[in-house]
Amino acid sequence: MNLVIFGPPGAGKGTQSKFIVKKYNLFQLSTGELLRKEIINKTLIGSEISSTMNSGNLVSDKIASDLIEKFVSINEYKNRFIFDGYPRNKTQAENLNQLLKKYNQKINLVLKLSVSLDVIKKRIIGRSVCSICGKIYNEFFNPAPINTNCCAPRFLQKRSDDTLDISITRYETYEKNIKPVIDFYEESKLLKVVNGEKPISEITKEISALINGIKGWLCTITQYKYAGT
Ligand code: AP5
Repeated sequence: MNLVIFGPPGAGKGTQSKFIVKKYNLFQLSTGELLRKEIINKTLIGSEISSTMNSGNLVSDKIASDLIEKFVSINEYKNRFIFDGYPRNKTQAENLNQLLKKYNQKINLVLKLSVSLDVIKKRIIGRSVCSICGKIYNEFFNPAPINTNCCAPRFLQKRSDDTLDISITRYETYEKNIKPVIDFYEESKLLKVVNGEKPISEITKEISALINGIKGWLCTITQYKYAGT
């Protein structure tokens, strides 16, 4: 089973993906995270994309798609993807279909998390990520636990694009590009819209119900658990 999750910045794509990955033994493919790794590792691509990401615009389709293909081509991850933040425009949506076809796969479910700009601003400003385990927190809605080693304040990091100004540009970039993606997945009857303003656990439940509703998928899960892997 392959899933796509998309929505505006701060919609909760990363938060929900991490729960889903654990519950269904999937592999999270976040283009945002992959691109940030390129910057941290000071690769050639990293130096090219740093200013684009910090301006709130999209990096080129070629860069994003090449990163995706590196993983889609790996057999171990076959039919276990949750694509987080890819596709972001129609070119990327078409490319993802072609790429999956090339590797004998398809998309089973597309989730759109809907969240208003007012909520997004607070989510982005309050976000921090644990540099040790990658858990995502929010000082207003979902604070890191006290008395913990791993997610202690000294390990919590802010993203350089998580400022109010850049978050507004990121939101505008999303709005400018996403309509054809929504149409694309509506036409293929894969799209489910989820209210991303509910509490985190309620959204996870709703997404789990949608996943469990995919024909044939529960059988695969049962076999996986039964095999004791
Ligand atoms: P990316 O890293 O993907 O950023 P984004 O799309 O802006 O999304 P975020 O990671 O900000 O938010 P999220 O939806 O994952 O929310 P989260 O779960 O963290 O991309 C960054 C940049 O990379 C882009 O701007 C672009 O330049 C480039 N890029 C990436 N992909 C690309 C592509 N395909 N093509 C071209 N360029 C690309 O949650 C946010 C906060 O809210 C957290 O603090 C969390 O604790 C909190 N929260 C989450 N859910 C809830 C809830 N239900 N209630 C209360 N709080 C919640």
